Amino acid sequence: MKMTSVVLAALVAASVVVTLHAQVKERPLPRLVKKDGRYALLVDDAPYLMLGAQVHNSSDWPAMLPKVWPAMEYLNVNTVEIPVYWEQFEPRHGQYDYAMIDTLLTEARQHRVRLVLLWFGTWKNGSQHYMPEWMKLAPDRYPHMVDKNGGAVDSPSPYASASLEADKSAFSAFMRHLKAADPQRTVIMVQVENEAGTWGSLRDYSPAAQKLFEAPVPPEVLDAMEVKAASPSPNWQEAFGPEAEVCFHAWSVARYVGQVAAAGKAVYPLPLYANAALRDPLKPGAPGSYESGGPTDNVLAIWKVAAPALDILAPDIYMNDPAAYLKVLELYHRDDNPLFVPETGGTGNARFFFSALGLQAIGFSPFGMDYTHERGDAAGGSKQREEFLTPWAMNYHLIGPMQREIARLNFEGKLQAAAEEKGKVTETLPFGPWEAVVSYGALWNNSPQGNPEPTGRVLVAQLKDNQFLVAGFFCRVDFRPAGTEQQRKSQHIVEGTGQTPSALINGKWQHRQFLRVEEGTYENGVFKFLRIWNGDETDWGLNFGAEPVVLRVSLATY
Ligand code: DGJ
Repeated sequence: MKMTSVVLAALVAASVVVTLHAQVKERPLPRLVKKDGRYALLVDDAPYLMLGAQVHNSSDWPAMLPKVWPAMEYLNVNTVEIPVYWEQFEPRHGQYDYAMIDTLLTEARQHRVRLVLLWFGTWKNGSQHYMPEWMKLAPDRYPHMVDKNGGAVDSPSPYASASLEADKSAFSAFMRHLKAADPQRTVIMVQVENEAGTWGSLRDYSPAAQKLFEAPVPPEVLDAMEVKAASPSPNWQEAFGPEAEVCFHAWSVARYVGQVAAAGKAVYPLPLYANAALRDPLKPGAPGSYESGGPTDNVLAIWKVAAPALDILAPDIYMNDPAAYLKVLELYHRDDNPLFVPETGGTGNARFFFSALGLQAIGFSPFGMDYTHERGDAAGGSKQREEFLTPWAMNYHLIGPMQREIARLNFEGKLQAAAEEKGKVTETLPFGPWEAVVSYGALWNNSPQGNPEPTGRVLVAQLKDNQFLVAGFFCRVDFRPAGTEQQRKSQHIVEGTGQTPSALINGKWQHRQFLRVEEGTYENGVFKFLRIWNGDETDWGLNFGAEPVVLRVSLATY
């Protein structure tokens, strides 16, 4: 038989991959580890903090990448999150196009960044808009969900077995290719689907789905959700009452996504995650007011049992209410779930990168960070674009040079962080015999007023008993002796301007003394000394402004 040009091209491509693979040293697989209740993402066998940014939805095309890299450079990211589109990857059933993935790998390596690839497969924001044309044109085989009235919903059915099989095959082909083409581990994690779930209907009302909705809830779901139902094998309505449909849909979607994830992981076991369109964590509305079926905070336990191949369930946080933002971080930082923020946005929210760090986040990634858009957010003139990026860029320019140290200190439980909240002008971070006192909007000898807008943020890490690493923006940090826990019960604290932070411990005053405050920068894991801060630079506490400043502070008492 005559070899067709397509087969020939595929063989040549495969042999190129094999040859390249043979030349490049295979690095260790990225993986998630847990120790003493804390998680780390290991990349090249060491804790890694993803200083990430996600591109706009339609930016993963060769002609768009030149508008991506300059933004990433400006931000100083170490990781770029970028989609892989099913419609582009499998233009004809069973024929996969690896060209875009290869382009990404090459260009990411040239720009010295890692990648998180986002599989825009069956679901993208609750819809099936990224399914290839050959699927969109065969709705009988690849059906939409059916609503209460029998109408088609703009969302794929989680009970469509042909769609599931097609997605499993495509996702596995993509992961198989990564395994062969990426011994460098440029890709460190993969997102399976995007904001899976449904808007506009609580669940699938097709006859097959209806039958399952009326059947007993699987016992592992009852266990996971700690349901105490009246009957031994309740159906969904009996077990979950007003949340029955959302819980059922979460189980249906999670099982589907879990199977896609498992198929990919079987060929290449990279860390995998699914992202969530959130519900309001403080005032959650009734089912129907948020996307149904995704890993919202009320159904995380269902997703965990239904999709064990997913390592992380991750929140996309766009809320502008600081209390809600912080609550989301808390809800997704669980013993069974490392905290990872794969998408975020919103004016003034850049400071919450520090709040996430304080909960041992393994990564953080603002959304829409490229220059493809000509609208008011990441677009407009270059000045406007950069103003939009600047608050996020500041974080990464500060942390970038010491990213590995920060990741390690956080994994070891030595790091704490804070972000300013309106109306709260000071806060205390406890470190055993010392307390770090953080205040906002304090200049020279005045007392803290809070910044005009809450932009303050800081991290403090304990390097030794009496030595700390401090870095932040728009805040003042000082240290106060804290004594032992027993002693702290009776301590007396001096607050106020110009006074040395002191405490009356066991009847004796102890005053903080700066032994040495060194400004420096990390280079290849080593603290490089720049100068000593003293005099005006320390007499009113350690003041951080808009510049990226890192201090190593050695303390004593007198
Ligand atoms: C969340 C989605 O996950 C993103 O892909 C994007 O659509 C943003 N919303 C909104 O721009």
